[in-house]
Amino acid sequence: MTRIVVLTGAGISAESGVPTFRGAEGLWEGHRIEDVATPEAFEADPDTVQRFYDARRRALRTVGPNAAHRALARLESAYGSELLVVTQNVDDLHERAGSIRLIHMHGELRRARCTACGARPRWDDDLADRPPCPVCRRPALRPDVVWFGEMPYELARIEEAVVACDVFCAIGTSGAVYPAAGYAALASAFGAHTVELNLEPTDAVVPFDEARTGLASEAVPAWVDEMLARRAT
Ligand code: APR
Repeated sequence: MTRIVVLTGAGISAESGVPTFRGAEGLWEGHRIEDVATPEAFEADPDTVQRFYDARRRALRTVGPNAAHRALARLESAYGSELLVVTQNVDDLHERAGSIRLIHMHGELRRARCTACGARPRWDDDLADRPPCPVCRRPALRPDVVWFGEMPYELARIEEAVVACDVFCAIGTSGAVYPAAGYAALASAFGAHTVELNLEPTDAVVPFDEARTGLASEAVPAWVDEMLARRAT
């Protein structure tokens, strides 16, 4: 049995046409993080924040999964419940590629969250026009996206998988945001082999056992093929 945890970030969806956050032409280039991705920003100017996420939700309709997302779905077909994919991404490209054992630790664009009753309904329309919550009917829906200063989802389940895994692989994440940025070190402390697949090396606090550079659409299928070959022998 080889238990694998894969942590993905914006880099895995970059080649699908979803902008990353940091770096040249990143999503934050045109916006100050504190203007669109904090609870304070939402309180101060809900319309701007809703429009920002409405635009991103709409943009999802024009993109699709790439070879890296599909490779991880292939990995799940072979490893089944021994694989957990934890994504920081709020897009739905992993599930559209076929991943099932998947945690969206930073929430999902295609869900809303009701600030009045706590419901988290599927949501594909805009929120800026303040539609009523399908459960309590109050116009209190916000994007179901985890903002800075808020608690990510399913941390206990993720940590349990990270400490128990044999292989930990971080794909397309800059390692700038905790707690996700600490998972490689945690996995390593518990004896896992750690791998990074990224366009460029990141300055991880605890170095990865292996750091491979390249496009996710090439590096991820290659790594998956190796893991599948290992499974077959
Ligand atoms: N293939 C592989 N890696 C890539 C590619 C690519 N085609 N394109 C970019 N990358 C890498 C970049 O080198 C960078 O290290 O992906 C990483 C993207 O980093 P960020 O933009 O910081 O995204 P991420 O790590 O997912 O951000 C974490 O921060 O803004 C918050 O909540 C938001 O979930 C997000 C979190």
